[in-house]
Amino acid sequence: MSEDIKKTISELHIYEKKLLKELEANPEATPSQIAESTGMDIKSVMSAAGSLASKDIIEMHKDVQKIYSLTSDGLEYAEHGLPERRILEVLAEKKEISMKDLSKEAGIDKKEAGIALGWLRQKNWAQIDQGVLNITELGKEFADKAGVDEKVLDYLKANADGVKLFTDDLLDGFKKLTGRKNILNVKKETSHSFKILPKGEEILKIGFTIKEQATQLTHEHLKDGEWKSLEYRPYDINAEAPLVFAGKKHPLREIIDEIREIFLNMGFVEDNGEYVESAFWNFDSLFQPQDHAAREMQDTFYLKNPLTCDLPDDALVKLTAETHETGADTGSIGWQYDWSEDIARQSVLRTHTTGISTKHLFEHEPPIKMFSVGRVFRRETFDYKHLPEFHQVEGLVCGEGISYQNLLGTLKEFYKKLGFEVRFRPAYFPYTYLSTESEIYLEEKGSWIELGGAGMFRPEVLKPLGINQPALAFGMGIERLAMIRYDVEDIRMLYKSDIKWLREVPIDRGVRL
Ligand code: DAH
Repeated sequence: MSEDIKKTISELHIYEKKLLKELEANPEATPSQIAESTGMDIKSVMSAAGSLASKDIIEMHKDVQKIYSLTSDGLEYAEHGLPERRILEVLAEKKEISMKDLSKEAGIDKKEAGIALGWLRQKNWAQIDQGVLNITELGKEFADKAGVDEKVLDYLKANADGVKLFTDDLLDGFKKLTGRKNILNVKKETSHSFKILPKGEEILKIGFTIKEQATQLTHEHLKDGEWKSLEYRPYDINAEAPLVFAGKKHPLREIIDEIREIFLNMGFVEDNGEYVESAFWNFDSLFQPQDHAAREMQDTFYLKNPLTCDLPDDALVKLTAETHETGADTGSIGWQYDWSEDIARQSVLRTHTTGISTKHLFEHEPPIKMFSVGRVFRRETFDYKHLPEFHQVEGLVCGEGISYQNLLGTLKEFYKKLGFEVRFRPAYFPYTYLSTESEIYLEEKGSWIELGGAGMFRPEVLKPLGINQPALAFGMGIERLAMIRYDVEDIRMLYKSDIKWLREVPIDRGVRL
């Protein structure tokens, strides 16, 4: 036997096998007969047949047949006679009827009387002479004999299920009836027949076994060991399935939770700051000079209520002031200006989460691994990539021997777990040295986009806080990450509650390593 045939047989679906066997036993079988004897449903029979036909194992014929039956008018005529018959009956008795009494005499309405007249003349059963209708010789002959069309009416009445073919003696009458309106109903019926082709014959000659396939692995199968011998129906991964939109977290919430999970798994402790923060923590503690551009009104939201915030510990404030002015004992000469306590007291909506890092350093002893996720606020105008309010994640690691390499390694690891591959490029922040920005390459844009900043906190930041060990810190915008992850062109989509998008967006998680 050829390898080809062997392969074809091994790939036959159980329904194809059943169909083929049935056709072998009963070549004339119709789909519904096959369905009945094999226990398959008609749909399965037809799809198995289609599949066998596509492999040249059988041939499928499609036959469309018309089925005729009587309409309700037709049935009425079959029972009470065609309108011309009703008139002929009266005429046979009276020989002539005045045209004006026609419908009354025959008990039919005017419209029917009109139709009847046409047919009386066509059949040559009557003729009109000076307003009077007279019976003809032929009319007399047909007075007690059914016409060919009337025979068909009777036949159709007797075969209420419908008639597909008319015998020769009825053919004329049938043609006459089809020429009249509203008497016959036509229904089309499609039937299929099959023929086994040589390839099918060969397959049957070689033979195959039909093994019932189980559709489900059940408790019983497991209990009585039947699973060992059962053949399980393979999944059809191409089968159409209805779309189901299960409830799920908002995509932004999802990515935030995922980020938290990653840091918690990496041994970080979560901290939280406040939306309303003093300029001291948001800017001064980060060695940002008080005339720094980021502090300008057009970048930062300053609050009227509360107008000011309390400053921390006197010693810290003093040291910070000194560091800004002269560099104190940090080895730097500072920014060389007069530091103002009033400016440091101003209350702001935090512009980044980095103030949480300095506050955390002040309040905790190293070794420290801290992260924080939260909203930040900037005076931005809305556009496809800017929002005045968005989320950042901030991270901090402080301890003996912590290096810039640790910073790059930590970030790489974090992004990898989120499913991103990044590169680092040099950057500048007033509070870090060395500093870097992580970037990701966007295939479809053909460019690198910036994800967040990071660096080693400068001594000007660490010393006033009482920290003598190196600290790495990083911060990135979360909406950016979400836009890339969910393939969103416009950042506003993340806040629009667009139900179609929310339903359809796949919440695929990053790569967990
Ligand atoms: N705060 C910066 C921003 O909002 C990001 C950042 C840069 C955070 C460097 C850091 C850092 O902790 O060390 O863009």
